[in-house]
Amino acid sequence: MSLRIQQLGKHYGEVAVFSNVSLDVAPGEFVAIVGESGVGKSTLLNCMAGLDSWDSGTVELDGVDIGALSDDQRALLRRKKVGFVFQAFHVLPHLDVAQNIALPLLLLGQHDEARVAAMLTAVGLDGLGARLPQQLSGGQLQRVAIARALIHRPGLLLADEPTGNLDPATAAKVMDALVAQTREHGASLVLVTHSEIAAARADRVLHLSSEGIRA
Ligand SMILES: Nc1ncnc2c1ncn2[C@@H]1O[C@H](COP(=O)(O)OP(=O)(O)OP(=O)(O)O)[C@@H](O)[C@H]1O
Ligand SMILES: [Mg+2]
Repeated sequence: MSLRIQQLGKHYGEVAVFSNVSLDVAPGEFVAIVGESGVGKSTLLNCMAGLDSWDSGTVELDGVDIGALSDDQRALLRRKKVGFVFQAFHVLPHLDVAQNIALPLLLLGQHDEARVAAMLTAVGLDGLGARLPQQLSGGQLQRVAIARALIHRPGLLLADEPTGNLDPATAAKVMDALVAQTREHGASLVLVTHSEIAAARADRVLHLSSEGIRA
């Protein structure tokens, strides 16, 4: 899936979060976005998914200007074509691991137990499907969030610090699962990270600052 952002600007009151952000992500491309804390990385990622609003510029997914869609149209597009790994995982505490992962399929009316089982294996969570989130480690939770973001095979995966707070070995495993699963289905990946090791795996690294975004 292609993503095109042109001259995007966002502010809260008088304070600009970012301005003049333009970038292109080609189908199947893996782009990492780095930048200091508070510079607007999570906000930008939310705009890419149409989860947040902006004040100027455009966001296009596969040529569709998502700012011109109704809320319902935008939600439907997101549900079908976008996967999102949130900085704070947002797993549902009362659903077990397998149910959390299956959620996007349920919302599309496409529940597929075999696919969920295969995904559990792919991210190294074999045998943990019946556990509740509170019974998992941080790294395991992060893999649940990744599995859930990928289960419906979205064309675009947006991942916000999916390896934050992990030891280097676990972070590498989480990144392996993320990259392998994205590449397998030719999805585009935009990764926000503070980790140089994670960013180094991207096809391209972009630096976000108050001046804009640059290679
Ligand atoms: N509702 C809000 N009102 C005012 N300012 C806000 C609001 N939400 C976020 N901000 C500000 O917008 C800026 C961008 O926040 P954002 O979460 O996108 O940063 P970030 O680059 O993801 O940081 P981090 O690396 O710490 O996750 C921050 O300076 C934050 O204080
Ligand atoms: Mg953030």
